[in-house]
Amino acid sequence: MIRKLDSVVASRIAAGEVVDKPSSVLRELLDNAIDSKATKVSAYIEEGGIKSIRVTDNGSGISKEDLPLAFERHCTSKISTLDDLFALRTLGFRGEALSSIASCSVLTIESSSCSLTCNNGVMGELTRGTVTEGTSVLMEDLFENIPARKQFLRRASSEAADCKKVFLEKALGFENVELLLFIDGKLFIRLPSQSRVERVNDIFSLDRSFVRGSLVELNREADPINIHIVCATPDVYKRDRTQIKILVNNRIVDSYQLVTAVNNAYSAALPGGAFPFFCLYIEDSPTLVDFNIHPSKRECKIRNQSTIYGLVTNMIRDYLYNRSENTYKGVVEKQEEMFEGFDLGEKKTEYKPSSTFSAPHHTAEADTPRKTETAPAFKPDPKWFEAAKNVLGKKSESVDTAAPSVLSAAESAPERTWRYIGQVFNTFLVVETGEDLLFIDQHAAHERILYDEIRSLKDVQPLMIPYTFETDRSTDDFLLENSYIYREFGVELVRSKSMQWEMLSIPAVCRKNEDEIVKYITTATGDVESARKGLFAIIACHAAIKAGDVLDNITARALVEKVFKLDQMLCPHGRSFTFKITREELYKAVGRIV
Ligand SMILES: Nc1ncnc2c1ncn2[C@@H]1O[C@H](COP(=O)(O)OP(=O)(O)OP(=O)(O)O)[C@@H](O)[C@H]1O
Ligand SMILES: [Mg+2]
Repeated sequence: MIRKLDSVVASRIAAGEVVDKPSSVLRELLDNAIDSKATKVSAYIEEGGIKSIRVTDNGSGISKEDLPLAFERHCTSKISTLDDLFALRTLGFRGEALSSIASCSVLTIESSSCSLTCNNGVMGELTRGTVTEGTSVLMEDLFENIPARKQFLRRASSEAADCKKVFLEKALGFENVELLLFIDGKLFIRLPSQSRVERVNDIFSLDRSFVRGSLVELNREADPINIHIVCATPDVYKRDRTQIKILVNNRIVDSYQLVTAVNNAYSAALPGGAFPFFCLYIEDSPTLVDFNIHPSKRECKIRNQSTIYGLVTNMIRDYLYNRSENTYKGVVEKQEEMFEGFDLGEKKTEYKPSSTFSAPHHTAEADTPRKTETAPAFKPDPKWFEAAKNVLGKKSESVDTAAPSVLSAAESAPERTWRYIGQVFNTFLVVETGEDLLFIDQHAAHERILYDEIRSLKDVQPLMIPYTFETDRSTDDFLLENSYIYREFGVELVRSKSMQWEMLSIPAVCRKNEDEIVKYITTATGDVESARKGLFAIIACHAAIKAGDVLDNITARALVEKVFKLDQMLCPHGRSFTFKITREELYKAVGRIV
């Protein structure tokens, strides 16, 4: 028999979409307070928000007449027509947050000297209240009447941690609003109305890996997309990607593509396994963004995604490139001190920032003043150059000039004694190391580095939902004995039943390519070594730089640096990927005396 659901039951089902834990209640109440144009918002969390969450604001308030409507489903003051949905300037738009919360807790709203309570979907009477300015919303006893939902709540401390995260992520988008968070009666943080950089600085400072005042700001303003980046310099980083925040029109969003763009562009400047502190603010015309995808509003559809991807990548690369140029110049300046007494000539070349964004500026943080990064470059005169060559040449005297072109670690050029010259034939990176000119096959070198990185299992991506697949008998037998070889690359397999397996994780570089990996696994039987090689070939092909790829300088230098850290300059198949010409050979080739 088909029955119409009782309205309380129906609204509880709908509420499950909006409210699944205390932090989602907090997010909705903060959204409402910010939408009311408040300049000051305070949030009070008790017992992880399970017992109560109160949010007060000094915004527009709700009139006595509107107060009952605020609890009703699909009642909103924020949109009225379908077209408004495509031009959203508010955080709320569905008119269902308060009704959802009211159906699974005791919700009291006070405003305009009135107070109204809805107890688990049952409306009370309008009474006199004490709040005259703005609004105060109190949610109590979440899921008390719905034990099935309550049992899914975690410990108060974990729910409180989620509430803090939601609060801080919200705060990143609204630096003009003064925000206070109290946890169990104690002030956790007060963020005054401040500049964006100051706000990011205050929030990142709660993370122990962060260094106050290490932020730079990059801006690119172009209709209809403005991009602002507030990020820490590459010497300040984290071991996970939790501090990469993406905001679209001030709203925090989950965007796998944009986090990847940030990671790909920034990682060249960071040590392996490190991730930046990074806030990306995208301001896109509201007509180009659609948030109406998921009740949590964390997902959004951006119509300009690929343009934004490109812009962000270029901004990061330009910044890092200019920065590394300056760092290099800094090194030269240090060498300059080493050669005191020599005529160093005039410093001629001025450093020119390359491009599209305003020059990075540091925060006005007084506690850790940072040295400006722009150091003037200079052109060494011949005398200085000769002296430098002698000193640097001596440092790499251990290089056996007659040796074949495979270098070992002991032979590798020590740090700072190599100079990246450039890329030739879009395939080789040319590096001057003391007495030699080294040609590095970029594809093979990168393949080798990847091989090491992947086997170190530093960047394995667990799959939220295991990938289940069936196999034939021979693959089943092969995997039973040999699934460990795939685990070495971060592909974790478990057998769920006879001839059925589940893939639980993959190397992060292969995200979204699960199908291809499974297809390979289900066809690769036979000898262990070729199965191993085959899987690596698939992984590498998604991540390795190919011969023929044009490399920007920063990526190339990062690659060279990693090459010099290798024990042996051999590709995973055991072939050398470098070729060396000594100074002596070059001199001889043109009939010069060495
Ligand atoms: N703090 C507040 N200050 C002023 N008005 C408020 C406040 N909280 C809620 N309201 C009013 O109550 C209405 C209903 O709020 P509710 O959160 O349920 O829906 P919404 O914000 O319009 O949309 P959404 O469901 O997407 O959040 C709002 O449209 C707004 O008019
Ligand atoms: Mg709302």
